[in-house]
Amino acid sequence: MMVSTRGPQVLTVFVCSVLCTIVSVQCAEQFNMTQYRLMPRVFHFDDYDECLLDDPSVPDVYCMVKAVVQPNTSSSAWNVIAHYSSNWKQHLNHAHLDRGLCLSGCIRLLAELEQQNVTEQELRSLVVPKFQIDFPYIIKNGTFRDVDTYRRQYSELFAKCINYELQQKHGLRAYTEIEYCDSNRESYPIDNLEIAFLVVLGFLLFTVTFSSWYDHRCK
Ligand SMILES: *[C@@H]1O[C@H](CO)[C@@H](O)[C@H](O)[C@H]1NC(C)=O
Ligand SMILES: *[C@@H]1O[C@H](CO)[C@@H](O)[C@H](O)[C@H]1NC(C)=O
Ligand SMILES: *[C@@H]1O[C@H](CO)[C@@H](O)[C@H](O)[C@H]1NC(C)=O
Ligand SMILES: *[C@@H]1O[C@H](CO)[C@@H](O)[C@H](O)[C@H]1NC(C)=O
Repeated sequence: MMVSTRGPQVLTVFVCSVLCTIVSVQCAEQFNMTQYRLMPRVFHFDDYDECLLDDPSVPDVYCMVKAVVQPNTSSSAWNVIAHYSSNWKQHLNHAHLDRGLCLSGCIRLLAELEQQNVTEQELRSLVVPKFQIDFPYIIKNGTFRDVDTYRRQYSELFAKCINYELQQKHGLRAYTEIEYCDSNRESYPIDNLEIAFLVVLGFLLFTVTFSSWYDHRCK
């Protein structure tokens, strides 16, 4: 008895709260483009084919680099990032940047900067040491080949290029870490992960083909 009289009320409350949630979510969607543009782009990738294939006789390296913006509460760009990214259900984390960089492009940029009399010291001051990062930002070490060698050779170089741009355009700097690199000098043998991928792919193809055949036969 109690349940049946309260039923409609409960339903009304439920419908109202759903509607209110939808309305407030839609309000949260509206944002200010001027502020949005203060933030660096989350994704930026140089052309991979142009980097490695255009002229294979010219050795080059393409690296995927993760950059984590250094918090700076006196920077308005950082405050927008912090505010915007706190809505993690709807927004990307804008402090976590993905970069794909061609080695020769970065070397060229640094050479140009040298010609414009940007000192080595200024460039070195752009490199940010690692700080406490409380979200996963990179695939764990040991997943990709030769990462340690590439990191030793190019970490500082890419840190300078990425941070020069961040500093110029947004007044920010980031801790950067190379995730993996591809070089057009190396040829890579098929490894276990690739074999595992082929096995799974083969299994799926087999299952699909077999199911279709079985279905066809049952008709
Ligand atoms: C957007 O933000 C900028 C900078 O904070 C401010 O000057 C501008 O008035 C804002 N625009 C709107 C529509 O809120
Ligand atoms: C923080 O931001 C302010 C204002 O943009 C800037 O002057 C300062 O150098 C920044 N600090 C660091 C550590 O990047
Ligand atoms: C860099 O410094 C050299 C020598 O001091 C000078 O001749 C040149 O004009 C400077 N270039 C720029 C872009 O300031
Ligand atoms: C992965 O490598 C980076 C740089 O070489 C190092 O700073 C980091 O601590 C390593 N992480 C783990 C989990 O070993």
